[in-house]
Amino acid sequence: MAFQNLLLETRDAVAVVTINRPEKLNALNDATLAELASAFASLAGDAAVGGVILTGSGPKAFVAGADIGELAAQTPVEGRERSRTGQRLLDAIEGFPKPVVAAVNGFALGGGCELAMACHVRVASENAKLGTPEVKLGIMCGYAGTQRLPRLIGKGRALEMLLTGEMVDAAEALRIGLVNRVVPQAQLLAEAEALLRKMLANGPVSLRFTIDAVNRGLEMPFAEGQDHEATLFGLICTTDDMKDGTQAFLEKRPPRFKGR
Ligand code: COA
Repeated sequence: MAFQNLLLETRDAVAVVTINRPEKLNALNDATLAELASAFASLAGDAAVGGVILTGSGPKAFVAGADIGELAAQTPVEGRERSRTGQRLLDAIEGFPKPVVAAVNGFALGGGCELAMACHVRVASENAKLGTPEVKLGIMCGYAGTQRLPRLIGKGRALEMLLTGEMVDAAEALRIGLVNRVVPQAQLLAEAEALLRKMLANGPVSLRFTIDAVNRGLEMPFAEGQDHEATLFGLICTTDDMKDGTQAFLEKRPPRFKGR
């Protein structure tokens, strides 16, 4: 697959998707959004890929937001459509059937912060700065930031970030649960990969169903979430991986998961 604005590399089941517009701090223009959608759609069905690391090119930015040049010229109809397109992409990443780790290598602002929040976990470099500065531009979040941020860090902290538009540094992002861990920039990709590989050592169906149970469960009343979990738990009892995983424990050997 040839991309203008992305780099894509797959090594031993780990795909690294790098947003590659460093001269614009990897701002998400329409073309980049479309390429991300196409990359994730193809990685979802690629049996050679167990999980994805999403990062930005260069030492300065993960993604500095939606492309303000495009936003400035949009009509209301285009604005709504751009918002829906971004929301669909982020939904696809959040619901991706394999783990997605954001390696936040610098500024993650506006759409960049929203993109990082759609990933399953976030590892940030010490120089990272995250924020939702849309209100400073006279606009607001359009890629579900008003929905994911309060779910991730709580309503009070989310409203503070959303209404001030101020950035938080990596240490504060860690303190409030906006990122999972903070590492020196030189080790960011290695740490993100190590974390992802810990996940990939587990049963692929277990990962897929767990992502689904958490995502869908959070949108349901607790009892329905439990019901959904129990259905998936029943379904997972039909897999070869369940048989081998439990047997491997009893035989004191490593499991041989096949993802079925
Ligand atoms: N959309 C379009 N272009 C962007 C951009 C964005 N969201 N963020 C940065 N850029 C561009 C700049 O216009 C500049 O391009 P130029 O060299 O052609 O003028 C280039 O990226 C470098 O950015 P610059 O502002 O010079 O870097 P800086 O180190 O001085 O500041 C930021 C970095 C992140 C603080 C600053 O770029 C910024 O505030 N960006 C916008 C963040 C934002 O509001 N995002 C939400 C958008 S909805």
